[in-house]
Amino acid sequence: MREISDFFVPWLKGQKMYVSSHIDLAWQHPELHRLMSNENPNPPSDKVIEAILKYGKMANRYADQGFAVRGKLAEMNGLPGIENVMLGTGSSEIYDMILRSFLQPGDEVIQHTPCFGIYKLRTAVAGGKIVSVPMTYKWGDDHFRFEPEAILKAITPKTKVIIVANPNNPTGNFMDPAAFVKIAETGIPFIVDEAYIEFAGVKEKSQVGLVKKYKNVIVTRTLSKAYGLAGLRFGYALGDKDVIMQIAATLIPWNQSTIAMWAGLAALEDVAGLKTRVDFNNAELDRIKKEVSKIPGIKPFDSRGNYMLFDSKVPGKTGAGMIELAQSKGMILRGQPPMYGSDGWFRLTIGTKDENDMFIAAVKGYFTK
Ligand SMILES: Cc1ncc(COP(=O)(O)O)c(C=O)c1O
Repeated sequence: MREISDFFVPWLKGQKMYVSSHIDLAWQHPELHRLMSNENPNPPSDKVIEAILKYGKMANRYADQGFAVRGKLAEMNGLPGIENVMLGTGSSEIYDMILRSFLQPGDEVIQHTPCFGIYKLRTAVAGGKIVSVPMTYKWGDDHFRFEPEAILKAITPKTKVIIVANPNNPTGNFMDPAAFVKIAETGIPFIVDEAYIEFAGVKEKSQVGLVKKYKNVIVTRTLSKAYGLAGLRFGYALGDKDVIMQIAATLIPWNQSTIAMWAGLAALEDVAGLKTRVDFNNAELDRIKKEVSKIPGIKPFDSRGNYMLFDSKVPGKTGAGMIELAQSKGMILRGQPPMYGSDGWFRLTIGTKDENDMFIAAVKGYFTK
């Protein structure tokens, strides 16, 4: 008899279920402060809770294709209609659908590193090969630099998708708008990941205008961050209608639940609720940056996400040491493996005011003792 392992598609070998050990830890220890997964510290608004309860009572029914919320998203983004909008259970599922639509085994996906880890994992499951083009940075620089020319240089006949997050996670900064046009001009499917765009302002910073001109540009967004609904699992893609509807052939029927659709719509309509969350986040980012900048040897990076990356250069201290100390004080932070010749990296997700104060005190304590 043949081994069951012989039946798996070869590119699945060695791939594992994705487990977020830090999120698992946080659920197992609710007393710990969750300053690690770019969640929103504020719970859903009453309007969203109302929708959750209302559609929870109708959970015996299948959802429609999301007419109302897709219509709302099209309208908000100046696009013609629902065929320009595809829903997913978080934007993580959206990348999966896009990658499955374009990749055959051996095809390449370009990402700009350091970046969100899921692009690589979903590329691998689709049989693709990730090509990582590094941003540039050295100690003393104000920010990481996007390298669009290096992205263009990395293109080969096998390149089927290019992904850039704007702002990028974990670096927190934005690529120059002209660089998006340059990459769009290649005609290669180009995912612009705008998971955090609301913190800087959709009007001010979104590249969604490009989808009207370039069929290959797909903008992805999520309600997990500024809208604060990570557990609800609501992501979406915006693009040309023919492209979106072709990708939607990969969509698992009824992927997004009725509850997520209607609670998502309630969140999108709650303009004041979004503003409160964005204003809180941005004020805390500024406050934390100001406080941490006072500590010699610590470099906080400007961010308009709900996270902040830090590099440090203090003798005998490391980013891993900082994370360990924070955990001993009840805070889960996020690490970053050594890169750019530094082992001083750590990342904070903006928490409540009290949590951010705890973080600032812990950083001061660790690096100044
Ligand atoms: C850059 C980026 N994109 C997308 C996501 C995924 O969000 P979700 O799958 O919850 O929509 C994240 C989450 O941390 C992220 O950092």
